[in-house]
Amino acid sequence: MRHTMIVLLVGCLLLSPAGGAAGQGWEKGGPSFLYVKPTKKPPHHGVYDETMKCTDCHSHDGVDAYTSATMAMKKSAKGTMPKQEIAQTITEALKGKGDYREIFVLSTSFNNKPLATVIELVLDPKTFTFYAMSERQTEKLFHIASNEKVSAAYVKQRENYDYFSGALGVQIVGTAKLLHDDDPEFTEAAKIYLPTLPQPVPTGIQPPPLDDMIAMIRHAKIITKITPERIVILNRSFKAKGYHAVQVWEAATK
Ligand code: HEC
Repeated sequence: MRHTMIVLLVGCLLLSPAGGAAGQGWEKGGPSFLYVKPTKKPPHHGVYDETMKCTDCHSHDGVDAYTSATMAMKKSAKGTMPKQEIAQTITEALKGKGDYREIFVLSTSFNNKPLATVIELVLDPKTFTFYAMSERQTEKLFHIASNEKVSAAYVKQRENYDYFSGALGVQIVGTAKLLHDDDPEFTEAAKIYLPTLPQPVPTGIQPPPLDDMIAMIRHAKIITKITPERIVILNRSFKAKGYHAVQVWEAATK
């Protein structure tokens, strides 16, 4: 343990502020006080390979927020679900009423200032792409136009407020593209998005055919297409199956 402390201390001394993207005074790997000091393992700790040492995950690793936090659990084969099963649990969590339409919070940024917007997204479970439809001239659209990097979060709403033991949440990081007017992808996206729109109270009147609806919105609405790079799902019930509560899905790299 003493060894660990010395390693941490030396690590801190060697680090020089990098500045740049993460802001002024950012040291490589982030501030060391954010790291767990692995003195005693709590009983609720996730499972990991027997061959691993505490410091494999809990040391100032000098990389970035991504590898230092959530990704630590991916270092262990034990407790990690097969990719296909992670994808299934994600689509299951986001299936809504069966139409894969759910309410999320979407985070964007403009001039390095974040904005979180409540928005309905529709997931295409075949491609793992998300779609949203917006009025023109809304703030988040200007954000996306200036910075295509976005993040979204979903949380399963609970009547009993048991967000601690019964937590189920999904976090998405990806790239957004604004589809509009004659963009060929607009039609494709609209075909996925429009059928999930809530139908007005039954009046006996049939909604117009899909192609007519697409023509009606083509020059009025913007469809945002979000291609995820990484999706993290937290579901405490995974633990009962011997898995870690947090599972990470990553898109295949090009
Ligand atoms: C495979 C990576 C990994 C290994 C190995 C590992 N941990 Fe962790 N540990 C994590 C992660 C990730 C978290 C963050 C919480 C979570 O996701 O459960 C964590 C959280 C903790 C926490 C904080 C828990 C809390 O509720 O505040 C302590 C303390 C801890 N670990 C101690 C240890 C000790 C001691 C060892 C070795 C005996 C160890 N860990 C080995 C990944 C690991």
